Amino acid sequence: PPSDTAIVNEVGLRDGLQNQPVPVDTDTKARIAGLLVEAGVRYLEPVSFVSPKAVPQMADAAALTERLPRRDDLHYTALVPNLKGYQLARDAGYATVALVLSTTDTFNQRNLNMSLEQAAASCESILQAAREDGVATRTYVSGAFACPYDGPVPVALTQSLAERMFAAGSDEVAIADTIGGGNPRQMKDIMGPLVRDFGAERFYVHLHDTRGLAAAMAWEAADLGVRRFDASLGGLGGCPFAPGATGNMATEDLVYLLESVGLKTGIEIEGLREAIALAAEATGRPLGGRILSWMASQ
Ligand code: HMG
Ligand code: MG
Repeated sequence: PPSDTAIVNEVGLRDGLQNQPVPVDTDTKARIAGLLVEAGVRYLEPVSFVSPKAVPQMADAAALTERLPRRDDLHYTALVPNLKGYQLARDAGYATVALVLSTTDTFNQRNLNMSLEQAAASCESILQAAREDGVATRTYVSGAFACPYDGPVPVALTQSLAERMFAAGSDEVAIADTIGGGNPRQMKDIMGPLVRDFGAERFYVHLHDTRGLAAAMAWEAADLGVRRFDASLGGLGGCPFAPGATGNMATEDLVYLLESVGLKTGIEIEGLREAIALAAEATGRPLGGRILSWMASQ
């Protein structure tokens, strides 16, 4: 996008719902997607094609895909954990897939039942298949700041995995703070050299707000030129294989942050209220970032 616009990719239906114990039916998910689009959301990651035993909440990925709003200006991504998931996503019609590579053996093992090396090699196979099929790719470097199991992650490790995925043909890389364990200084140290070497337009930043630093980290990334961010309506979510992980940075708070510094997102904050209320009702969880409660008090 031009430098005064930013992309907010709504991952709530995937990252937000994947760890929710209350099953949310396909119809409700489709209604949430419709409300998000009405609010101006144009980028969504609504599903993952993963083992239904591992994540029952995503078992309806193909069925939900058929029910999503269809318009030329909507950009959908499906998360895929392995080649089988990639093939399912491609067959469901996704033009973009999101791969996952974590920074440690332990996290890859818990998340994908693969070592770090196996997961990296698996991503390389998926990237090659996607290139042959003409499917666009984004690779999450998950646990980029801290591993849920092994603690702090060296800057150079995250950078080297991002570089390896670009070398293997990934169009984009999403630098992901799975457990909200990072800080703005780390964001600068990781992203500064990556942005210089690969260009800001090839990066997404994916933040979980576990400890309240997501806004500071998002601003640091934006200041470095990053214009693509993941977020989840009302802050819904967390990775089911990362103990202690809470939801992504709330979409409404991210939109407020970006708009407040002059970056247009196209998303109407008030317009998100209905989608958030429906998600809260469906999951039985109180939801909502800071900005909507402030707006309600005015
Ligand atoms: P496994 O048991 O090693 O897989 O699990 P397998 O290849 O041995 O297959 C076992 C069974 O699963 C077989 O079925 C396969 O067909 C089936 P069975 O013969 O038993 O009936 N299977 C699949 N079914 C549907 N879709 C598939 C698939 N693959 C195999 N893609 C596996 C390995 C990767 C499948 C499993 O561990 C898995 O699904 N993991 C997904 C975990 C997950 O969803 N994690 C959350 C997403 S990542 C995240 O949230 C982080 C992120 O937000 C960024 C951040 O915050 O850091 C992205
Ligand atoms: Mg996540």
